[in-house]
Order: sequence, then structure tokens, then C-alpha cells
Amino acid sequence: MRKSELERVQLLADVGLLTPSIIHDIRSYLTAIKGNAQIGEKLSNDPNSSGRFRKIVELVDRATDMIESFRKFYKGESEKERFVLADILNFAVSLLREKLAGIDIDIKGADVFIDGNKSLLTQVFINLLSNSADALLNSDKKIIRIWVEKIENKKSKLRIFVGDSGSGIPPKIRKKIFKPFFTTKDKGTGLGLFIVKRILERSGGRIKLLDKIEMKKIQKKENLNDLNTIFMVELSYGKGADSR
Ligand SMILES: Nc1ncnc2c1ncn2[C@@H]1O[C@H](COP(=O)(O)OP(=O)(O)OP(=O)(O)O)[C@@H](O)[C@H]1O
Ligand SMILES: [Mg+2]
Repeated sequence: MRKSELERVQLLADVGLLTPSIIHDIRSYLTAIKGNAQIGEKLSNDPNSSGRFRKIVELVDRATDMIESFRKFYKGESEKERFVLADILNFAVSLLREKLAGIDIDIKGADVFIDGNKSLLTQVFINLLSNSADALLNSDKKIIRIWVEKIENKKSKLRIFVGDSGSGIPPKIRKKIFKPFFTTKDKGTGLGLFIVKRILERSGGRIKLLDKIEMKKIQKKENLNDLNTIFMVELSYGKGADSR
């Protein structure tokens, strides 16, 4: 193992140790933010601004849920529930609304149930969409396509494809993108895809970056010539309630 890699492993162990205390401190801040927003909502006479305060309370609750899920995830007690895939995709898009402004986003076939950890799987798509938005910054054509394929004969697997017309991923870095701390961005942590991979593996799923040949096949079939990067997320779907 090269020294830099050893240092990275060490750094990751440190991050692991720090996580519970960071979660603890962030939770205190979130509680304070929520309290202030609730007071703001009460004191406000203007329906527009009281609506904004209510939105802050709602988002703080989602953030609290998310860090709670991460805490349980690290302790190995992640919870499962049944939810509709489209709901978490739409939530991820709405959370990243500003970052995704000007991008043509299309979601197809996501009206399916999933049994899994809702907060953590939401985090998966927030990360993928956020990466797509970054990759689209300098593109003339800005599109993101999400579509879903069911594989009935393979233990009810669901394949969720997330593609964008951004910069693409050069072949020489393809093997590195899921490694912790690998980033090509000035302000990136390089933890996004690493966390995504960990979440999916622990959920009995997986993530794959499609190669050129796989992309070509899909582009032919789906008529999606503009996509330069496609990630495939594989998950199980809710049995007994596979569609709505
Ligand atoms: N859709 C994409 N298009 C082009 N490159 C991508 C895409 N998704 C990921 N990458 C590449 O993979 C690298 C690792 O992504 P990852 O999400 O792990 O970290 P990051 O995005 O750089 O940092 P952070 O997630 O903290 O913002 C990115 O720096 C980028 O080079
Ligand atoms: Mg990222």
C-alpha cells in the first residue's frame, strides 16, 4: 500500500471516530434552528414568511431523520420501511432545486414500492444528482434522465438509472471514483460516491458506473444519445406491493 493510501485509511478511521461527536453537535444546532424557526413562524404576520419558517422546520426534521439514520447505520441497526421511489427522487430534486436550476430533468417509471431505509436511500440520490449538476456546469445541453427497469426473475430487483449529459468520466479515473477522498473538484470531499456505495451494499443493493459498451446498448434502446455518464443503482423492490 502506498503511503498516501495508508494516510487515507487513517484519515477515514479518524472520520469514523469523529462521526458520533459531529452528529451530536449538529443535532444540537438543528434543535436550536428548529426552535428559532418555530418562534419565527409564530411571530410572523406575513403568510409568505411564515411559510418559509415552516419550510425550515420541515427541512430540519428531514435533516434530523437523516443523521439519525446514519447514526443507526453505523451502529448496524438501520431501519426498513416501505416507500415509493418517486417520492424520494422528487424530494432529492426539490432539495437541490437551486443547484439543478436550468437543467432538464425527467423521471420515468419510479412509481414503485421499495422496502429499505428511506433516509439513506434519499441520500444516495441526493449525491448522484448533485454530482450530475456539477458535471453539467459547463455543458451546453443540460439534461438528467432517471428511469427504472424491473427484473422480475432476479429476486425482484429494480434497476434505477441516473444519467446526465455532463462532462463524462474519463476512463483513467473510472476505477477511483468510489474510493474515499477521491475528488476532481476544488471543494469536493470525495466522500459522496464512497458513502453511496456503502449505503447500497449494506442495503443489499449495488451501484455501477456503466462502461462505453453498456452505455451504447442503453442509448440505442432508450434513445438517450445525449447522456455521457450513466450510473445504475440496483435495489430490491417491495414484495407483494410491487406497483401502485
Ligand atoms: N455524474 C458525474 N459526471 C462526471 N464526473 C462525475 C460524476 N459523478 C462523479 N464524478 C467524478 O467522481 C468524483 C468523485 O465523486 P464524489 O461524489 O465521491 O466526490 P465529489 O463530488 O468530488 O465531492 P463531494 O461529493 O464532497 O461534493 C468527482 O470528483 C468527479 O470527478
Ligand atoms: Mg459528490
